[in-house]
Amino acid sequence: MTSISSELRDLPASSALLKRYQTIRNRTERLVAPLGPEDMVVQSMPDASPAKWHMAHTTWFFETFLLAENLAGYRPFDPAFGYLFNSYYEAVGPRHPRAQRGLLTRPSVARVLDYRKHVDEHMCTLLASPLPEDTTQLIELGLAHEEQHQELLLMDILHLFSTSSLKPAYDLRWPSDLSGRRGRFKPLKGGLTEMGHKGRGFAFDNEGPRHSTYLQPFEISDRLVTNGQWLAFMADGGYSKANLWLSDGWAVVQQNGWNAPLYWQQDEQGWRQMTLRGLVPVDPAAPVICISYYEAAAFAQWADARLPTEAEWEAAAEAGLLEQVDDVAWQWTQSAYNAYPGFRPAASAVGEYNGKFMINVMVLRGGASITPPGHARSTYRNFFGPDKRWMFAGLRLARDARQPGTVNNHDSEFGRDVIGGLSAPLKSLSPKYFYDAAGSELFEAICETAEYYPTRAETALLTRVAPQIAAGIPAGAALVEFGSGASVKTRLLLDAAPQIALYVPIDISANALNKAAALLKKQFKALQVAPLLDDFSRALQLPAEAAGHTHVGFFPGSTIGNFTHDHAVKFLRSAHALLGDGAHFIVGVDLVKDAATLVAAYDDAEGVTARFNKNLLVRINRELDGDFNIEDFDHLALWNASEERMEMYLVSRHEHVVKVAGHTFHFSAGERLHTENSHKFTVQSFSELAQRGGWSVSGYWVSEAPQVALFSLKG
Ligand code: AVI
Repeated sequence: MTSISSELRDLPASSALLKRYQTIRNRTERLVAPLGPEDMVVQSMPDASPAKWHMAHTTWFFETFLLAENLAGYRPFDPAFGYLFNSYYEAVGPRHPRAQRGLLTRPSVARVLDYRKHVDEHMCTLLASPLPEDTTQLIELGLAHEEQHQELLLMDILHLFSTSSLKPAYDLRWPSDLSGRRGRFKPLKGGLTEMGHKGRGFAFDNEGPRHSTYLQPFEISDRLVTNGQWLAFMADGGYSKANLWLSDGWAVVQQNGWNAPLYWQQDEQGWRQMTLRGLVPVDPAAPVICISYYEAAAFAQWADARLPTEAEWEAAAEAGLLEQVDDVAWQWTQSAYNAYPGFRPAASAVGEYNGKFMINVMVLRGGASITPPGHARSTYRNFFGPDKRWMFAGLRLARDARQPGTVNNHDSEFGRDVIGGLSAPLKSLSPKYFYDAAGSELFEAICETAEYYPTRAETALLTRVAPQIAAGIPAGAALVEFGSGASVKTRLLLDAAPQIALYVPIDISANALNKAAALLKKQFKALQVAPLLDDFSRALQLPAEAAGHTHVGFFPGSTIGNFTHDHAVKFLRSAHALLGDGAHFIVGVDLVKDAATLVAAYDDAEGVTARFNKNLLVRINRELDGDFNIEDFDHLALWNASEERMEMYLVSRHEHVVKVAGHTFHFSAGERLHTENSHKFTVQSFSELAQRGGWSVSGYWVSEAPQVALFSLKG
């Protein structure tokens, strides 16, 4: 700790402006109070500046543009500082290179504080006498400038601390961003509107002139996108689907290997996030921050929405439609930072303040948790390059107003399947839609319940028989896993079969693939891993690395039971085509057993499976603008003995109506919505199914009760 806070000066408050000057200057010094001298010198990247430099540069602004010009006889504190602490003002002269601000061990922090004191005393003198309007305006600009640097100082400190393995907290009491509900789209009619600064209060030059602009009807979310939504984007391969990204953004993602927001890291404790309070768990209900424009735009694309224009944002803010306006994160807009009609930068050096940056940057609106109180306005135009992400920047979604009668953003496979399934006389939804981020987590939780035996039974069986399975795998084989997820069971097989040379996990989740591949490479040094990002039931071609190897398919987890028999046959045929003649295929299935064991497995006492089932409605609400109330439905698990399958339903508790993607669906009391079949087999019934799929059974192993089986098929 330094003694800076104890040096806070008590300037005589002879005018309102002087008082504001004093308050704002003191705030800078309060902000650096938690820092040690070493913290204040280092520059963690060219975009960031050391705290010491921020303290000196803001002082230089007052010295150069106010004292030197307006206070008779003023002598600069140190003539060398003009070079050291000029940021970008060409009109004022040359300057110390930006990227080398962190090399300035001199002047010391103590001398910079003396500099601040010297300038503050002279500013006091200047402010003691009446000043012309243009001088007070320039002081207001200097104060707004200092506030901008207060925010930069916090951004830069967070970046610096994030690079330390100690992950130090700047301030353990720094408030966390408030969690809350997800956003709802609010409509705005559009038409001719006015935007830009009005009135007499301070605004930066770039906020004017106020002018007319025309808005098409649109909808804008009242809240910011949350970490939970961002996790869903990641789980859906958001960072690895080129079609979601702007071309420049995709290049940046590739170059930098981005797979999460700037300050996120994943370890045994899950996703954690560096904050001013140090490293904390990512809160799914809090807004996502520290993302680039490129990421925001890709997310919006994924969410079937778009970023608002700055005119839309301003109109919605002024109409009072928005929450989280300026207290969490600046919000990317899709507007390039351009001059408003009639904008002219000031003729003096401060004309360089904003105008010359009107190129290659995008506008952000709102304000952030680190923005000084009272600094932001609804007309405020913040701006950063589209690849920058150390600012507290998040996003709120917008979309074009819906044309009556159209499904708009719901024309996706999910949207079509849901509308089709809910329109059918016997309502049904495909179980493949269970697995959004929350659904995948719930499925993992199901596997931990006492009643759900298939995962435990199969793991125990595989542990026992892996050596026998391994004996049938030829040297140099490629193991191809369908729907690999976290590749947990794969490890048992790889341990027993070191002759496997290549592992090809196929999964729709890039995140799961990348994680699993990285872990396996670490654990099995000689193993080559060639992940395939694809829907495993549709994959048509193995990666090039698999050529020349004998292929062994692996499909554990009894997922084949979730297909209809016809679909399972189709899948087995396409797996045969993918793996080629002579391949082996190891498939896990659940076996027919007593109804009580089965029903309990799909209706556990803790209600985890019920939550998993109902999460499908939550997903529909989120992604398809549904208004399902999950309290209106009961979870039901039934054993259908004649079809030899477990069936899951959601049963409407009473008569009601639900809206999804603009469509209305009627539910009568007791009406069932069918969500899953989970077929159980006998050795004979599965052998017949395999045969219809072009495979013959070369062996099988059965676990202890409750029984599941592993089949070895030969193509
Ligand atoms: C993924 N699949 C094999 C599980 C099953 O048993 O059918 C999904 C599940 N549904 C309810 N519980 C688990």
